[in-house]
Order: sequence, then structure tokens, then C-alpha cells
Amino acid sequence: MLYPGTVTLEGEKRAAAEYAAGLVEDGMRVGLGTGTTVAPLIPALAARGLRLRCVATSEATARAAEAAGLTLDTLDGVGELDIAIDGADQIAPGPWLIKGGGRAHTREKLVAAAAARFVVIASHDKPVPRLTPPVPLELLAFGLEATLRRLEHAVLRGGAKSPDGGVIADWTGPIDDPAQLARRLEGEPGVVDHGLFAPTLVTDVVVATGEAIDHTR
Ligand code: 5RP
Repeated sequence: MLYPGTVTLEGEKRAAAEYAAGLVEDGMRVGLGTGTTVAPLIPALAARGLRLRCVATSEATARAAEAAGLTLDTLDGVGELDIAIDGADQIAPGPWLIKGGGRAHTREKLVAAAAARFVVIASHDKPVPRLTPPVPLELLAFGLEATLRRLEHAVLRGGAKSPDGGVIADWTGPIDDPAQLARRLEGEPGVVDHGLFAPTLVTDVVVATGEAIDHTR
């Protein structure tokens, strides 16, 4: 017998991912996010044996999907997506999301925006009462110092670049109003994209808490 307290975060991520795999139907064009919550989605989708065309948001996801036998395409190849499924770093009321802990938020936002349905999957630790910094940023390498100076509250994360060669940094300033901050960041030359995902992008949130799944649509 399982007790709620014995379900690990990894188990919750698997439960949310497997639940979301059940939302996918034969013939769909599916966007695949990036991260540890999406990782168990890939075998769960493959196990369903559906005819799907999948678009991966990172090399890691593409490799895993290919290894699982899923058919990959490009976003331009499929045009639009029926569904996209992805994790999040924070889920605040709205729902507003912070994404990009895995450096893939620019591609993830393109995929979410192309999808008729964008399903966010998460373990119980991701919902928060309000978003808190950092907010991942992808910056152009050209003029990087000037961009950082203008942003004032951005620090380089170091490590790998984005899948498209962008420099990854984090906004460390306040998030008093996510919509206002999103507008400000979108207006800054040199910012390719930021990890704030507006409620207009999100259709479904699936959160696993212990053995329970909460699906808000
Ligand atoms: C990657 C992301 C991920 O969805 C986010 O970082 C959550 O990751 P995980 O599922 O590993 O907790 O935005 O860029």
C-alpha cells in the first residue's frame, strides 16, 4: 500500500506525464517540451503506439524521442500543433509560468504558441502563490555587454548556450507585475526571449500531488 508521503517528486512527475500522454490522440501533431517532467512523457507516449508527428524543443528531447521510436518533424514541417506538453519551473495563478530552467524557453514558447492545446505538467512543488526571480533570458551574443547594462538586473548563467546559440542569462530583478515585466523584456533589443509564459498560452495545467492528479482546463 502507498501513502501520499511516500510518492517522490520523480513519481509525481511520472504520474503527471503519463496522465498527459493519455490526452494525446491518434494522428496528432505533438510538441514535446524539455526537462525531467517531460522525460517520462516520451516513453509513455511511445507505449501508446499512436501515429504521431512530434516536434522536440531541445536536442535532449529529440534524442529521447527518436530512441523511443517517435516520429520527429520540424515546427515548420508540421505548421501547427494539436497539442504541446511541457514542464515549468513555477506555476502562479493566471496561470503565469516561469520556464527555461533547461535553457529551452525560446523554442518552448514557439511550440506552445503553435499548439491548439498547451498542457503544463508538474509535480506538487511547482505551483506557487506568486512568481519569484530568476526569470530565464536568452540574449543575442552580439552586443551582450550593452544588453546586460540596459537590463540592469540580469546575470549570465554560464554553461551551455541555447539550442539556437543564444546566451542564457537570468533576470534577477523584482517581478511585481509579470505582464509589465514581460512587455519590458520584449522591448529590449538583444533579448531573444524570456521565460515568462502568459496565461493566454496555457490551456491545461496537470499537477500531481502524491497519488492525486489535479487537472485544470
Ligand atoms: C526547460 C523548461 C522546463 O520545463 C522547466 O525547467 C522544468 O524542468 P523540470 O521538468 O526538469 O523540473 O522550461 O527549459
